Amino acid sequence: MTHYFHYQNDQLFVEDIALTDIADRFGTPCYVYSRAALTDAYRQFSDALKAREHLICFAVKSNSNLAILNVFARMGAGFDIVSGGELQRVLAAGGAANKVVFSGVGKTAAEMRLALEAGILCFNVESAAELDRLNEVASSMEKIAPISLRVNPDVDAKTHPYISTGLKQNKFGVAYTEALALYRKAARLSHLRVTGIDCHIGSQLTETSPFIAAAEKVLALVDQLACEGIKLEHLDLGGGLGICYDDETPPSIAEYAQALLGTLQGRTERLIVEPGRVLVGNAGVLLTKVEYLKPGEEKHFAIVDAAMNDLMRPALYDAYHEILEVERKPVTSPLSNFPPEGERTNEKGDSLIYEVVGPICETGDFLGHAREMAVEQGSLLALMSAGAYGMSMSSNYNTRPRAAEVMVDGKTPHLIREREIVSQLFAAEKIIP
Ligand code: LLP
Repeated sequence: MTHYFHYQNDQLFVEDIALTDIADRFGTPCYVYSRAALTDAYRQFSDALKAREHLICFAVKSNSNLAILNVFARMGAGFDIVSGGELQRVLAAGGAANKVVFSGVGKTAAEMRLALEAGILCFNVESAAELDRLNEVASSMEKIAPISLRVNPDVDAKTHPYISTGLKQNKFGVAYTEALALYRKAARLSHLRVTGIDCHIGSQLTETSPFIAAAEKVLALVDQLACEGIKLEHLDLGGGLGICYDDETPPSIAEYAQALLGTLQGRTERLIVEPGRVLVGNAGVLLTKVEYLKPGEEKHFAIVDAAMNDLMRPALYDAYHEILEVERKPVTSPLSNFPPEGERTNEKGDSLIYEVVGPICETGDFLGHAREMAVEQGSLLALMSAGAYGMSMSSNYNTRPRAAEVMVDGKTPHLIREREIVSQLFAAEKIIP
């Protein structure tokens, strides 16, 4: 837990506001972000890279709220996008098109047109077919598309298989062995301009060595390309730096940056990075309320008002999020004879081991397993480290309106996304005669 989230007299605070106050004002479930945590993480990154020309392209997919994008845009960030929709968000948030890199294996012609019209910095192209399509689209618009090839360096990121992207068997990028031939092809196409090279090997990495291994392979290609007269202007080394959810010990931003800079010594190309999680993950929590306590024969359940539609990571990756009591206080059991005498785990006899689950009709709808907590009906809980891939992966499953989002700035909470209302959810649907 960073100091932006801290206990004061047994009350959990975000900056200078108690989370109980946020729940009173905005209701639950609610994502709550600390603005200072966001700006602090960004500043650590830019300070760590200041020795060389660089551009930090925030990975929009990790958290695409306009207010968050705007905080980074005002600090000079660029953006890594993977859809036309994300491009429109970046522009609506005040981001600069000429600092946008466009990744993704399935760019449509319409998305390419949008990005060319806006004048983005670079397309990170992921296949031979995409090179052809981009050349055609650019030609039809009488524009030249700046491109990088996303090279798959075939290194093991040693992370969860669903978020590992840099191995040969993954769908991402162009094979390392084919990259040279594809660069030659790109250089021949009339409406493309080769400007860089790109790689991204996975997410939630907790060691520097895979980043270094990937960078070294990329640099070997850069040198081969130079021999053939293809000079690159930038090196995009992707994102992927992990954060601490539980007991992981990822390198700090400074250590990661030092390691990258070490491999780039003597190089003049501009460095681009695409961090997502490390800038927002520990800057946000999901605030939720206990609706019911349900004792069971084998397990006790704390049923909360947030669910897998709000925070999908536990259900999808079996991911761990710390769960904290918003008010640490003795609780009186709402049920007679509960908790059972023999199971009481602390002196006050009010803390028990719970499965923390949501109301959705799926067994996979859990937010945490076997958590010891002192809670009662109405208690507030904070799911920690929920700023990245939380709200951005949420859905309306079970016709659940999406949560509100609040950004705290010192003493001031700003509502940065209103809670959805049910009528919005089916406004586009029609009954047929
Ligand atoms: N660049 C590219 C091309 C990416 O695909 C990604 C993430 C990033 C940058 C940012 O990676 P980061 O710095 O955030 O690790 N939903 C998963 C994570 C999926 C990551 C997808 N790509 C999760 O909740 O853990």
